[in-house]
Amino acid sequence: MARLKNKVGLITGAGSGIGAECARLMAREGAAVALTDLDADAVARVASEITSDGGRAISLAQDVVVEAQWESVLAQTREAFGEVSILVNNAGIAPNGEHVEEMDFEEWRHVIAVDLDSVFLGCKHGVRAMKTHGGSIINVSSIMGIVGNPGSGSYNAAKGGVRLLTKVVALECAQNGYAIRVNSIHPGYIKTPLVTDGVVSIAAREGEQTPEEVLEMITLRHPIGRMGQASEIANAVLFLASDEASFVTGTELVVDGGYTAQ
Ligand SMILES: NC(=O)c1ccc[n+]([C@@H]2O[C@H](COP(=O)([O-])OP(=O)(O)OC[C@H]3O[C@@H](n4cnc5c(N)ncnc54)[C@H](O)[C@@H]3O)[C@@H](O)[C@H]2O)c1
Repeated sequence: MARLKNKVGLITGAGSGIGAECARLMAREGAAVALTDLDADAVARVASEITSDGGRAISLAQDVVVEAQWESVLAQTREAFGEVSILVNNAGIAPNGEHVEEMDFEEWRHVIAVDLDSVFLGCKHGVRAMKTHGGSIINVSSIMGIVGNPGSGSYNAAKGGVRLLTKVVALECAQNGYAIRVNSIHPGYIKTPLVTDGVVSIAAREGEQTPEEVLEMITLRHPIGRMGQASEIANAVLFLASDEASFVTGTELVVDGGYTAQ
């Protein structure tokens, strides 16, 4: 149970859903973890749960679109635990379901900022922080970075951007001789607040479907017959973070119950 022994991880958006589950699992596997989130109270709760279970964790408030805060959270993590060797760029928001022809430019820019600009900033400062000693950067994209979906234009564009940015950063690290692996992960639908709140807004917009009917429709798109759980994504992140993935860089790991296989 120590696949991340002696490693130090920073996980964004760790106050909820997938990020919280990644932080819990990484701590159980021996890493010291810094959990960051816009929601300072939520992330403090998850961090204290981890420390009560005997893990090593701190929580930090961070807005992932503010560049100066990246320098600050990386410095505070280093101060608490030593050099950061795992970065999970996980924080993200869902689109509001509008089609492109009706989408407000501000809404487009907001989703691109939180879901794509943040990953650029994380990679930029993560590479700077890790280049002398190496590490693993995991960017949480989505199946929506591979296939399109009506009403998700900004989200699809952002997650597709994360997919290719990941490959570029992986290649740049390799070319520069940095021992940093960079990969993206592509979850199918996972039952977290991002989906359950998003589903309610889709149902409200469509008018003719209840949230339960929308969830059923989403479930049916997964050949495996169900939506995923945050722990199933955390297990894939754990693999990419660990030395078991020492030859894995620039790849996209799809964890989607067969959604994109059809
Ligand atoms: N749930 C899914 O079905 C699914 C599928 C594919 C990809 N993803 C991706 O997984 C990641 C995590 O999603 P989740 O489902 O756990 O969602 P979630 O809503 O449960 O958690 C997201 C967290 O990110 C935080 N956050 C939002 N904006 C932020 C900002 N500007 N700065 C810092 N933190 C911020 C939120 O406060 C929240 O705690 C996202 O990038 C999402 O796009 C989710």
